[in-house]
Amino acid sequence: MIYLDNAATTAQKPPAVAQAMLRTLNGTYGNPGRGSHDYSFRAQQVVEGTRDALGTLVGGFARERILLNSGVTYSLNLAIKGLVQSTDHIITTVCEHNSVLRPLYETGCELSFLEMDENFRPNFSKVNSLIKSNTKGLVMTHGSNVTGAVSPFEDILDVAKAHGLWVILDGAQTLGQIPVDLQKAEDEAMIYAFTGHKSLYGPMGTGGLFLGGALRPTTLITGGSGIYSFSKTMPTELPIYYEAGTMNVPGLAGLCEGVKFCTEAIQTASDCFDNLVNGLRSLKKVTVFHPLEGPATHTVSFAVEGYASGEVAMLLEERGICGRSGFHCAPLIHRALKTNDDGLMRLATSCFTTADDIVATLEAVADII
Ligand SMILES: Cc1ncc(COP(=O)(O)O)c(C=O)c1O
Repeated sequence: MIYLDNAATTAQKPPAVAQAMLRTLNGTYGNPGRGSHDYSFRAQQVVEGTRDALGTLVGGFARERILLNSGVTYSLNLAIKGLVQSTDHIITTVCEHNSVLRPLYETGCELSFLEMDENFRPNFSKVNSLIKSNTKGLVMTHGSNVTGAVSPFEDILDVAKAHGLWVILDGAQTLGQIPVDLQKAEDEAMIYAFTGHKSLYGPMGTGGLFLGGALRPTTLITGGSGIYSFSKTMPTELPIYYEAGTMNVPGLAGLCEGVKFCTEAIQTASDCFDNLVNGLRSLKKVTVFHPLEGPATHTVSFAVEGYASGEVAMLLEERGICGRSGFHCAPLIHRALKTNDDGLMRLATSCFTTADDIVATLEAVADII
């Protein structure tokens, strides 16, 4: 099989990821931050080493502001539920994943949605017209999991700052795949959430967020912190306030290696993806949803005339190609693209995709038309 469902998760990881995970299970790793012996210290080194690797990936970020948890869904819930009040007005976009939309709906806040431009990017020129007296923040995806369109981080931050808003960004599809420079954003009112198992090539159940400026969402969970055991509340120190309970040391060991891998690999793999998109665009009866211009990830969705996306996925699977069909947990973008009946077929390359994979995939798509 040819695996092109990398926007869901990168199935193929660098070997160092599994090796590092196994090492933490060899009988010499204790509970991080919960003892003064070498076992505990070794585990703590894994946790801090992962923060260091993530900091390097984004051009530098204070270690204690890199919060680790089970992934971007956790991070977005923490950021949104910890910051948004029911009386607030929040600006978001039609490109969002349910991990943004559902927490926002749960807060009961008032929402306005930015529509997309012709390259599938949220139309920032409209932010001004949406601002109200109770507008507090901009919550949006950095890169769409449907079209691959990326909104430049600097533009998002500039727009938010110009209107006095804080920003929560969903970096599930971007961190590790495109350069993301957060160094200058460390003092800004922004939260950048990420997940370990997609373009960071780490294991599932890992991820976190970069916490900028003075933003301090209320923590989602409380519990053991390793210090101040007699206190009835969580210590307020970063990152401890947000990291109650025992950390996922095997997962973080794997994530650390994945992050180091993509710090090196971030510039590669685009030829394969460009060939895939250009090949799809050249096929009759295929409509491609991916930006013609501007930054984008290696994710493309397409519709084949006369077929529901589920049928396309099934026919491609019969020909040895794994992708994903349907709505990709992003309901509003399908309304905007008018694909809410049949959904879209999505393919995404990774650093492990080969030129031969793309040739075979394009032949398979051509074969089913
Ligand atoms: C844009 C986007 N946000 C959030 C998520 C949720 O990621 P996870 O399931 O790793 O928490 C995904 C995963 O598909 C995604 O593509």
